Amino acid sequence: MSASQQAKQQIDALTTELRQHNYNYYVLAQPTISDFDFDKKLEQLAALEKQYPEFAEPDSPTQLVGGEITKEFKTVRHRWPMLSLGNTYNEQELLDFDNRIRKAIGDNFEYVCELKFDGLSMSITYEQGKLIRAVTRGNGVEGDEVTTNVRTIHSIPKKLGEGNYPDLFEIRGEVFMHRKAFERLNDERIENGEVPYANPRNFASGTMKLQDSGEVAKRPLDCFLYFLYTEKQLFKTHWESLQAAKDWGFHVSEHSKLCSNITEVLAFINYWEERRFDLSFDIDGIVIKVNNYNQQQELGFTAKVPRWAIAYKYKAEQVETVLESVVYNVGRTGAVTPVANLKPVQLAGTTVKRATLHNANQILLLDLHQGDSVYVEKGGEIIPKIISVNPAKRKPDAPAIEYVTHCPACGTLLERKEGEAAFYCPNDEGCPPQIVSKMQHFVGRKAMNIDGLGDETIETLYQKGYIKHISDIYDLRDKYDQLKTMDRFGEKSITNMLDGIEKSKQMPFEKVLFGLGIRYIGETVAKKLVAYFKTIEKLMTASFEELTAVDEIGGRIAQSLIEYFEGEKHRDEIAKLQSQGLQFAAEEKEVTLASDKLSGKSFIISGVFEKYSRDELKDIIEQNGGKILSSISAKLNYLVAGDNMGPAKLEKANKLNIPIISDEELLGMI
Ligand code: IVH
Repeated sequence: MSASQQAKQQIDALTTELRQHNYNYYVLAQPTISDFDFDKKLEQLAALEKQYPEFAEPDSPTQLVGGEITKEFKTVRHRWPMLSLGNTYNEQELLDFDNRIRKAIGDNFEYVCELKFDGLSMSITYEQGKLIRAVTRGNGVEGDEVTTNVRTIHSIPKKLGEGNYPDLFEIRGEVFMHRKAFERLNDERIENGEVPYANPRNFASGTMKLQDSGEVAKRPLDCFLYFLYTEKQLFKTHWESLQAAKDWGFHVSEHSKLCSNITEVLAFINYWEERRFDLSFDIDGIVIKVNNYNQQQELGFTAKVPRWAIAYKYKAEQVETVLESVVYNVGRTGAVTPVANLKPVQLAGTTVKRATLHNANQILLLDLHQGDSVYVEKGGEIIPKIISVNPAKRKPDAPAIEYVTHCPACGTLLERKEGEAAFYCPNDEGCPPQIVSKMQHFVGRKAMNIDGLGDETIETLYQKGYIKHISDIYDLRDKYDQLKTMDRFGEKSITNMLDGIEKSKQMPFEKVLFGLGIRYIGETVAKKLVAYFKTIEKLMTASFEELTAVDEIGGRIAQSLIEYFEGEKHRDEIAKLQSQGLQFAAEEKEVTLASDKLSGKSFIISGVFEKYSRDELKDIIEQNGGKILSSISAKLNYLVAGDNMGPAKLEKANKLNIPIISDEELLGMI
């Protein structure tokens, strides 16, 4: 093969691979490669394209800032394109950057050093001091309008106080999640049988893509602002803009520093290299910006990045160790997750013995073989992951790791649903770890919260053959004598447990429903379903259309419910639990009407309100005899509209001539 043929093949392969990585990162928010390795590959492609421009694709990843637009949100063009930054990884590259600048503008300038927050960038527009629009970076030229979601972020002001800000300006920053919140919420996802996020950045960007801002509001996000755009220049320097933004009420990091030369910049970088782990959030480097705006202008931009700023990226700590084995865990929902057992090794202050492998694709992508020498990285993730293999150390006869075809716990053939990365063990009735963790979930704190019946007791009771189904828990009192023969299980603990079990019969329906552990039915969804359908009978007989008509219930959840209730064993179990006295109907709330001024009138509430949450307005309407409808139809009397109501709703209401009122007008009616 000629050198040019070989180059073409390499260019094609790298282009395809990097496109996939871009998609994984920007669209799926689930990267499978470290930033460092991605940048290296991008550099490699750029070098090849430079040498063989005839083979470069016009929309090659080297030409894109990255990203695709999620269709559901309105696409908005940025007034000022949202550019990316060039990256550096070592001191020399930074000194080169400094030299380029000094060549262009001389020695008389300052730098501003800032933390490089690891989240997603957001451009927020204020008019007359009011937040009017927030747009994601998207592909840099156009992004998604996510104003309603951004409004839920507490640290972003919705309305500014007095100040010398201009009538119209744009401010940019990074939306992110603090590590603690990430860990807590991710644990909840795991408990709900949902796929956990790999790191806080993915959680933040996944959250911004949610269509329900109510759900967004439950996930505490934060935002640091780091860039100001105004039509007319207000300040001479970036530093002054940062101080002003702080004065106007924005969350500006206190860890920025004005530096008078590159030596001070390097000191700042070294300082944070170690201290970054003490921060409550993740950073992946330092951003260095020339301070003076005139000098920034003089330096200008390359096609993609400013010449007056650059990022210094910290290398995630990596070590090489040996892959000893791959084991497979079976979770409550039957999802099988591969885990790598490693030869213990020190990494970022802890001994690492295990690494996640996510799913079967990951094993294939890494091309893992038995006994491989692997590179392990601990980035923002809590659990380390295998980044790549050192092929030089592979034994020639080492067999490839093949994903298990059968459940490691019960031997059943595994299944994979279309479009899902995970394999599942379908034997939910006979697979021991699934049975045990289902019962543990049921008695757990967030579900039935049964006193005296912990995870270990469930495990022992199962092993003894006393319980196999949730309903068996309620028959335990008939096994008193057998229970007494159990080790370390005195009379007092038995009574305590049986009392707890008895008491749990009073737990409300939503807890029972959540406790059943139906895939995708988390606490919130269970609450919504109970509020809407009221009884298990109505829920069990609801059609796909009826289910998806409920606020926040999508196709995936509806399908899961339908499949669950189709199972005869599930229906038998529910019948048994009902006969044992558990709650399968919503508690009737005693509503004392404040007035009947809204009686006979129907309402829909849409958008965001300054003084009230939607739920509060709903309560006000119901307490005054009004009715809430779920969709706009000719039957509707009023649409109560707040900010940022969907345009489709507005159009429909206008078409049907339905009066649109504000929250104040609503209150005026009572
Ligand atoms: S300034 C033209 N400052 O890093 C200047 N960006 O790799 C653009 N980022 O898209 C950005 N912390 O999402 C700037 N203190 C900071 C930053 C920061 C994080 C992100 C931002 C940007 C990306 C570039």
